Amino acid sequence: MSAKIQSVKGMNDILPSQSPTWQSVETVLRKVAELYAYQEIRTPVLEKTTLFRQALGEATDIIEKEMYAFEDAGGEHLCMRPENTASVVRAGIQHGLFYHNQIRLWYMGPMFRRDRPQKGRYRQFSQFGMEAIGWPNPEIDAEIIMASAKIWGLLGLQDIRLCLNTLGSNLSRERFKEALVTYLSDYKNELDVDSQRRLKTNPLRILDSKNQRTQDILNQAPQINDFIDSQESDHFAHICDLLTQSSIAFHIDASLVRGLDYYTSTVFEWVTDANGAQNAICGGGRYDGLIALHGGANTPACGFALGLDRLVECYQAQQHGNVTEQLDIYLITLSSNDSSLSTKIGESLRNAGYKTAMNHGAGKLKSQLKKANANGAKIALILGESESTQGVIQVKPLRGQGETQNIATSNLLNFIETNQLL
Ligand code: HAM
Repeated sequence: MSAKIQSVKGMNDILPSQSPTWQSVETVLRKVAELYAYQEIRTPVLEKTTLFRQALGEATDIIEKEMYAFEDAGGEHLCMRPENTASVVRAGIQHGLFYHNQIRLWYMGPMFRRDRPQKGRYRQFSQFGMEAIGWPNPEIDAEIIMASAKIWGLLGLQDIRLCLNTLGSNLSRERFKEALVTYLSDYKNELDVDSQRRLKTNPLRILDSKNQRTQDILNQAPQINDFIDSQESDHFAHICDLLTQSSIAFHIDASLVRGLDYYTSTVFEWVTDANGAQNAICGGGRYDGLIALHGGANTPACGFALGLDRLVECYQAQQHGNVTEQLDIYLITLSSNDSSLSTKIGESLRNAGYKTAMNHGAGKLKSQLKKANANGAKIALILGESESTQGVIQVKPLRGQGETQNIATSNLLNFIETNQLL
């Protein structure tokens, strides 16, 4: 016998016991997108590799180490999307969605990064994202952050903290980068190995190094704040005001740079301690240069994406477990002679809108009742041989809504409705 095939490392199955929890979280996400009037966009999972190389930057972890990229049979260089902002931008330009237009978009779906798997970090994971394209004003940055805050609120999640920073315009960021490199070059040999490399490739990423010595050196380093112009700092101050007025607490973290090159000005992350080392639940910010970089008109934009796997883990931890699917009716048929009658009854119940599962003639009454309870059914209907010859069915409430009664099958729907059993 050949070995059983297992799933790809870091790519998880979501089992029936977990699906209801995912579905209820997804319902809240769709609700928030709708409340803020964002429209759904669905883009392909495969894209041309150059899209992400251009958008995210060559010297980012994703492009350097984590892409599922390959050449297809036709010689095209394709990849599994590692994120969706670049795809949304590509699709918007391709279909003229941004042409003289402002548009709010949302998406949900799988992303792929070949990182080292651990709790909260997977090679296939799902993101939900909202992107507001065409608005330069700080109200939109605040709207995006408020929409994410609304999600934690509706899910009843606590202890998700907002970290906020501004990276300034391209010009001010370049000036800051130069000053940072000049300062850090004096300490080059004391920096951790990754930071030494980043000094050449992506100096801003050194700011979020986890190495203590590097962090000590950074204590005296130039700060982005000293380089941003007054327009940028007014923009940032306005966002902070709007968040304060909305009672959204935040922490300004000057070391927050985010791992993707396309950000300009505002960046933010929502973090929690619920997921161990992988503490970022959601990240986003402005990417005012990305649409022009991909050949569109100069268009400001701002958005976020949250990791659904991490969000669901956080929800399970805080809401103490999985959401369970609730059935309305469990229909038990004790004799296979009655299978066509019970199939007919089952269909009439579904036509009336009741969630109904059936045993199809197998198993003893006691074990079937156990299953009905385990499935959270509110009532069991029992069709034995004596009932079917009399044209009745036993109605057994399972949640203390009255006594078991024999009811004429022709009157079943009416009885369920008038007695408000469901
Ligand atoms: P990101 O920070 O790379 O941003 O990812 C957003 C969220 O996706 C993270 O906060 C995390 O919750 C989740 N995530 C990322 N990698 C993994 C992984 N390997 N396993 C599980 N969850 C993960 C972006 O992707 C940007 N496109 C966000 C954005 C939208 N910026 C502007 N608009």
